[in-house]
Amino acid sequence: MPVPSPGPVPSGVAPDGYDRLRRRVLWRMPSGLYLLGSAAGGRRNLMTHTWAMQVAIQPKLLAVSVRNDALTCELVRQGGAFSLCLLKREDRALVRGFTKPAVEGPEPGMLGGVAVRTGATGAPIISAAVAWLECEVRQETMLGDHTLFVGEVVDCGAPDEDAPLLRTEDTRLNYGG
Ligand SMILES: Cc1cc2nc3c(=O)[nH]c(=O)nc-3n(C[C@H](O)[C@H](O)[C@H](O)COP(=O)(O)O)c2cc1C
Repeated sequence: MPVPSPGPVPSGVAPDGYDRLRRRVLWRMPSGLYLLGSAAGGRRNLMTHTWAMQVAIQPKLLAVSVRNDALTCELVRQGGAFSLCLLKREDRALVRGFTKPAVEGPEPGMLGGVAVRTGATGAPIISAAVAWLECEVRQETMLGDHTLFVGEVVDCGAPDEDAPLLRTEDTRLNYGG
């Protein structure tokens, strides 16, 4: 594997120390922690995901950045849609189960050992979600090792509007940096 380039380094600064500092600052950015659902060609997945944000008001556009080597990237591209599931803060253990492709079954209503249902776009939605958004992909842009999918919100729900939401800082996990 080639050593990744450190990118621009300010002059007079040690590259290694700067790289570590830059990573720590990037990790400190507050972020939500979600499950990103996708489905295509009879396959489906849920992925632990943090890089999601609204990027336009009219139309309602949501951007999600997905690593190119993830099954989710393939399924969102093929299926042309994704779901974003918002979780309760107390459900932090759930995200640990979705950092690898989710195993099917044993029943159709189960994915990766949790209850799911199929949303209007065909993407799975975890039953424990306190709220969810479903999007149809309108744009796709390669950004180095990730692909940015911009989707228009076509459906949403919020079974529990009062529950405190899970954020990355509620866990010991991080991503990126
Ligand atoms: C806290 C946390 C946040 C993550 N956020 C993202 C993300 O925003 N985008 C992404 O592509 N992968 C993210 N990942 C990595 C994926 O969860 C992991 O690589 C993945 O599930 C593999 O995807 P696949 O199941 O679609 O193959 C994150 C992992 C963790 C632990």
